[in-house]
Amino acid sequence: MRVVVLGGTSGVGLAIAESCAANGDEVLVTGRDPEKLKAAAAKVAVAEAVDGRSAEDVRAFFARHGRFDHLVLALSGASGGGPLRDLRMDDLRAGFEGKVFPHLIAAQAALDTIAEEGSITFITSTSAQGSMPGTAGLAAINGALERAVPPLAAELAPIRVNAVSPGVIDTPWWSFLPEEQRREQFAAYAEQTPVRRVGRPQDVADAVRYLMGAGFVTGRVLICDGGLTL
Ligand SMILES: NC(=O)c1ccc[n+]([C@@H]2O[C@H](COP(=O)([O-])OP(=O)(O)OC[C@H]3O[C@@H](n4cnc5c(N)ncnc54)[C@H](OP(=O)(O)O)[C@@H]3O)[C@@H](O)[C@H]2O)c1
Repeated sequence: MRVVVLGGTSGVGLAIAESCAANGDEVLVTGRDPEKLKAAAAKVAVAEAVDGRSAEDVRAFFARHGRFDHLVLALSGASGGGPLRDLRMDDLRAGFEGKVFPHLIAAQAALDTIAEEGSITFITSTSAQGSMPGTAGLAAINGALERAVPPLAAELAPIRVNAVSPGVIDTPWWSFLPEEQRREQFAAYAEQTPVRRVGRPQDVADAVRYLMGAGFVTGRVLICDGGLTL
């Protein structure tokens, strides 16, 4: 299989890329940071700098690389979180620009070269499912993508379209918090989570790999949060 992971140089995307490569798949990843790209290049077939916000660059990437089987969209727009009273609308806009548009740009750009029996998997977030104060902006961003999954699955069939909606996963996404605060928050989340821990990138990779191979599953959002949102 040939697998493309946009945002595949860190965290969840990197775990997906490594897991597919270990399975014998040919894996192509994108990101922006040259150091992360260099490190990823040692593990996968292709690692290229492509800003997911640029429709032109994303289209050129797919045109360059030809046929492939599975597309995973793991790139993140980390902005848009926080209580509404303090939320800067520019941050919220950047959150949409950094996540909703790149997902839809890439899904569109991939259509000429993705295999009919292939799949597209969005990585969303359980902020779209829950009601935690301070997450309305993130819920709007990820909810927009999750809601797009069923009509896309119907429209793009037989290509399957699904999402994995992760809960709290220990990745560099959390590096905006100082180490100690991050550890405290993870411990608090672990306590509220039925499986009693926060997630690992591999947990999300397992869910994505399941959906890639699940030929009778389409238009669905698979929640991968250790039960946090139950
Ligand atoms: N970690 C969590 O707790 C959690 C929870 C729920 C949902 N998620 C979602 O899971 C996805 C992956 O997050 P993560 O935790 O793995 O984050 P991460 O470790 O920060 O990785 C993000 C990846 O996306 C790439 N990226 C970001 N913006 C990009 C852009 N404009 N163009 C191209 N590549 C871009 C990054 O590369 P560069 O840095 O080089 O740009 C990196 O490879 C995100 O959509 C996030 O919202 C994460």
